[in-house]
Amino acid sequence: MSNVVCVEHPLMEHSLTILRDKHTDTESFRHHAGIVSQIMVITATSDIPMTEKQIETPLAEMTGHHILHSVVFVPVLRAGISMLFPARNFLPWAPVGFIGLERDEATAIAREYYQKFPKNLKDKQVLVLDPMLATGGSLVDTIDALKKKGAVSIAAVCIVAAPEGIELLSQKHPDVRIYTAAIDSHLNEFKYIVPGLGDFGDRYFGTL
Ligand code: PRP
Ligand code: URA
Repeated sequence: MSNVVCVEHPLMEHSLTILRDKHTDTESFRHHAGIVSQIMVITATSDIPMTEKQIETPLAEMTGHHILHSVVFVPVLRAGISMLFPARNFLPWAPVGFIGLERDEATAIAREYYQKFPKNLKDKQVLVLDPMLATGGSLVDTIDALKKKGAVSIAAVCIVAAPEGIELLSQKHPDVRIYTAAIDSHLNEFKYIVPGLGDFGDRYFGTL
């Protein structure tokens, strides 16, 4: 699919394998989630707008480049918080919007419990951060909400995606590019990604 970018890198493969391993403890899970998120954010920002900037090095004048303040991060609570910290290290000035969504354990349908977005989304490049794209319900709801508030340029930054979620998101929001580190096999009967890595939020926050 042309709207999906699956990022491949040996550092990514290494850290993703540690995230997937059920024996990985919380400390290690957080560490490697940070590495994977950094690589994803670097890739997802590879076409953000820049302007030229005249500077002087100690030896000469030169034309450098400066990133325009045009990016907004929107982590999907709670697991998306894990990707916000690494993202903020690269663009510490970027405004952050939040949406809180929680899947019902029985139906796997997400319920929204919080929303706070920055103003003027129309002129911004919005990067939605959510490590798991399973049924796609959470990301579809998030992007619906962002478009309602005026956002036009939106990308989803994930870590593991299921084909079912990619399909739904691409159908509902074909204009949204999806960045992911892996496209897994399928969803199980409880709508968990297989082979996946289990419940990302619980593993990252130690609430298993
Ligand atoms: C997880 C994950 C996504 C969502 C993906 O969140 O972080 O937001 O499920 O599933 P979907 O594509 O089927 O909607 P969860 O609801 O478990 O909440 P949490 O982040 O608070 O753990
Ligand atoms: N949310 C997760 O954290 N993991 C899954 O496999 C599906 C949804």
